[in-house]
Amino acid sequence: MRTSVAIIGAGPAGLILSRLLTRAGIDNVVLERRSRAYVESRIRAGVLEPGTVRLLDELGAATRLHREGLPHEGFTVAFDGRQQRFDLQALTNDRVTVYGQTELTRDLIELAVAKGEALVFEADDVALHGIDSDAPYVTYRKDGEAKRIDCDFIAGCDGSHGVSVNSIPSSLLQRYERIYPFGWLGVLADVPPCAHELIYCNHANGFALASMRSPTRSRYYIQCAATEKLEDWSDERFWDELEVRLGPDAAATVTRGPSIEKSVAPLRSLVIEPMQHGRLFLAGDAAHIVPPTGAKGLNLAVTDVIYLAEALNGFYRNRNDAALAGYSQRALARIWKAERFSWWFTGLTHRFPDADPFQRRLQLAELDYLCSSRAAATTLAENYIGLPL
Ligand code: FAD
Ligand code: DHB
Repeated sequence: MRTSVAIIGAGPAGLILSRLLTRAGIDNVVLERRSRAYVESRIRAGVLEPGTVRLLDELGAATRLHREGLPHEGFTVAFDGRQQRFDLQALTNDRVTVYGQTELTRDLIELAVAKGEALVFEADDVALHGIDSDAPYVTYRKDGEAKRIDCDFIAGCDGSHGVSVNSIPSSLLQRYERIYPFGWLGVLADVPPCAHELIYCNHANGFALASMRSPTRSRYYIQCAATEKLEDWSDERFWDELEVRLGPDAAATVTRGPSIEKSVAPLRSLVIEPMQHGRLFLAGDAAHIVPPTGAKGLNLAVTDVIYLAEALNGFYRNRNDAALAGYSQRALARIWKAERFSWWFTGLTHRFPDADPFQRRLQLAELDYLCSSRAAATTLAENYIGLPL
């Protein structure tokens, strides 16, 4: 089989890239290691930047998002017994939308299937070949049968544990990494959220986040050790600790219920440069990871593929490599700003085990500054809603 672009991975990056290319008349095939059911049930991010929503609109993939997504015009940061609301609408004239990545993925898959697009689930042993030649190809197994796709380009959208980045000689890549000394313990429960907007809490016991997926489904996170064992966290222990960290006002409005998902995610920052080798282009989590505090991971994956689709479109329209050659540099300029914001917001809202009283005073001073300076609040808000392309 032959196609123009072989896309590895049916996460948000791969699915959106496929739609963008198809819209531009560039044929492509998406190869996904997992089953459709698995991909559609994975619980991940929940906050969409306005630019992400606009793109999904343009792609005709936002019908349900507009019906069920929750527009949020602000959020609260709680610290030292104080609660400060940041009014995104007033500070940036824009807002974010709470809509689960799970739902977004379902919408994109449904659209691709309805349009009869080439989307292969349960593609085993995907391997990339000839990426530094002008005749790359991908091999995989489907139902035990060996398959081969010849292509012009490969888009590595296969996340941080994928095959793409490992197909590039490590001597040609630079890795920039920070491991944080904690993780997030997350719980999803079919109970009404404790507040109608998100609350980020910096508490002496550690960070907590009150989020949601819908008016009847809550998503809560608490900072924990990266090595925390799930079996040590009964639902009851989780709710008890969450309520302590949220403080008495928010705790009073927490509705408890059985968890329908519970997981521990270690926090890290990672950027791999460059995001290209020969005919292979990396996008999304395959090239970078952010700690989740600023809700940037999914949104960054989306902007990467906007840039990549533009570059591929330039190649097929003008037969020139310039836009493709500039992809990595263009994407990285925006990625590093989101990396900086996610690192900064994590530092501001979490308790670091090795922080001394001096560092705690600095944290409090910065939080206080954010509350008292419109310029500082605007900096937070404009990063939160997403920097321009
Ligand atoms: P992914 O969504 O990871 O998609 C990659 C796809 O490639 C997957 O479907 C995978 O199965 C497939 N794949 C992998 N290897 C292969 C292979 N060899 N062959 C074929 N296919 C392959 N962000 C937030 O903002 N907030 C959150 O709360 C949040 N929670 C998260 C929780 C977890 C457990 C993880 C892992 C991430 C979370 N993120 C969160 C980050 C966010 O979900 C990601 O940034 C986003 O999914 C990136 O999209 P992507 O398409 O680049 O990668
Ligand atoms: C969610 C995750 C985040 O990292 C965040 O900043 C806001 C919301 C969530 O999963 O709901």
